Amino acid sequence: MADAATAPLLTERLLLRPFHDDAGDRDAYAALCADAEVMRYIGMGETLTREQSSAQLTRFVEHWTQHGYGLRAIVERGGGDGTPGGDGTVVGFVGVMRAGQPGVRAGDVEIGWRLARDRWGRGYATEGARAVRDHAFAQLRLARLVAFVRPGNAGSMRVMDKLGMRLEKEGLCNYGRPMRIYALDNPLASATDRGAAR
Ligand SMILES: CC(C)(COP(=O)(O)OP(=O)(O)OC[C@H]1O[C@@H](n2cnc3c(N)ncnc32)[C@H](O)[C@@H]1OP(=O)(O)O)[C@@H](O)C(=O)NCCC(=O)NCCS
Repeated sequence: MADAATAPLLTERLLLRPFHDDAGDRDAYAALCADAEVMRYIGMGETLTREQSSAQLTRFVEHWTQHGYGLRAIVERGGGDGTPGGDGTVVGFVGVMRAGQPGVRAGDVEIGWRLARDRWGRGYATEGARAVRDHAFAQLRLARLVAFVRPGNAGSMRVMDKLGMRLEKEGLCNYGRPMRIYALDNPLASATDRGAAR
């Protein structure tokens, strides 16, 4: 999977790579989804069993195969010399996926993020999401990005603000809970391109 679309994205502190279909990524994703604080505003607000998180990871990997983009595991870079390093531990994800919530336009793509609790407050979500946004617009040439958030999730809404996303509408999510949809048009695409993509 080492073509341009699946190559890791590098930021100052992070390496963002496609999820792997292996035990290491399944363990890391299971740990992330087993933390009640992390899952508070996701789905029904419940933690996931290993079986549930593993089934989701399978779908993430399939999404990459089907669309050529998807969610990226976040790995901290080591060394401080600009080379990828660290111990390779996955500390969360950030990436883009076909949107599966009500109230979006056909073909809309969602940007999303989730971090291990001991990595919160370091600016990682913003740093990773900016790299993913820029790649989605410049390389994937997506017409626009949307993001979904539950109204109480102040941290996630702040990340959306910092990406330049704006509140588009409020409604209910797949689980019947209040949800806000934020959106951002690709500034590199003309209005005609965006219209054609709808
Ligand atoms: C939401 C989440 C990804 C934020 O990650 P993070 O790396 O801590 O975010 P950042 O450090 O980049 O912070 C971005 C901004 O949000 C603010 N912020 C972060 N958490 C916040 C909180 N709980 N309440 C208010 N503001 C918060 C930061 O102060 C920062 O704003 P600033 O630059 O003006 O100071 C992280 O809390 C998380 O993984 N939550 C659980 C999963 C989740 O809810 N995912 C999103 C679903 S929509």
